[in-house]
Amino acid sequence: MSRQRIIIDCDPGQDDAVALFLAMASPAELEILGITAVAGNVPLELTQRNVRLMCDIAGHVDIPVFAGCDRPMVRDLLTAEKVHGKTGIDGVEIVEPTTPLQEQHAVDFIVETLRAAEDESVTLVPTGPLTNIGTVIDRAPDVLPKIRQLVIMGGAMREGGNYSPSAEFNILVDPHAADIVFGCGRPITSMGLDVTHQVLSTRARVERIRQLGNPVAEATAGMLGFFERHDSKKYGVEGAPLHDPCTIAWLLAPQLFEGRFCNLSVETRSELTMGHTAIDFWHVTERPHNVNWICSVDADGFYDLLTERLGRFGD
Ligand code: BDR
Ligand code: CA
Repeated sequence: MSRQRIIIDCDPGQDDAVALFLAMASPAELEILGITAVAGNVPLELTQRNVRLMCDIAGHVDIPVFAGCDRPMVRDLLTAEKVHGKTGIDGVEIVEPTTPLQEQHAVDFIVETLRAAEDESVTLVPTGPLTNIGTVIDRAPDVLPKIRQLVIMGGAMREGGNYSPSAEFNILVDPHAADIVFGCGRPITSMGLDVTHQVLSTRARVERIRQLGNPVAEATAGMLGFFERHDSKKYGVEGAPLHDPCTIAWLLAPQLFEGRFCNLSVETRSELTMGHTAIDFWHVTERPHNVNWICSVDADGFYDLLTERLGRFGD
């Protein structure tokens, strides 16, 4: 597999944080060009701080971190402290990070990086609301040919919504940006709730990670323990869905996942179903196939991969 050049755009969030760790543990497969923060689970000043804290914990103070948009393109910001805690990453000790915040705006960084890149050479991995990426495409459509693919955490079909009855959180927060992104014409793979709800951080899986005994594994186990308490009550199962790391796991081991090419369209008008992802799974329309909609995963294989990679931080 050739090494992929990626930009991770995120809103940590415990699960975003684990996605960052998984990517940082995999330098043979992934070159992280930068990490960009967006407002989502918590406001931007916390998501950018949380990204930098994860870089500190993983010993990657060298990765450039940028702050992006502090509110959605059209709607007011919705946050999710009730899921992630006040800090966004409750479960880990919060200190002022040493990893610096770059001065450049995340959107400018992404545009500049793409403009300087070869065609189809950069993979974007958004695991938060799509505001930064939608703004990039809106402002600088000339960069589209540079994007190799987007691997997104967002959307829901069979599982229904997790923040409204119809919508998954990332799409609901900025449906207008999501509409732009899913209409951009570049290859997209999307990890929606249909697959992420299969990846449950059960006590046994979290314990196996904790036993690795290195600082990244301990931080991961702490955060997943917090995450679990909220989601287990909500979904009535043991273990919280570990949404965002599915994106990175797919880049590392696509054979663990199964998906289907179909059309995904985003609801941006109805207040009742705002942010709903209408997925034409059975190809009942002529709409173009704009997404590889992932529907299943080998969850044990996923946790084996995650545990093996987090173990590398102790080497
Ligand atoms: C998504 O929303 C956030 O709460 C998580 O970080 C994930 O990206 C799941 O709906
Ligand atoms: Ca997220």
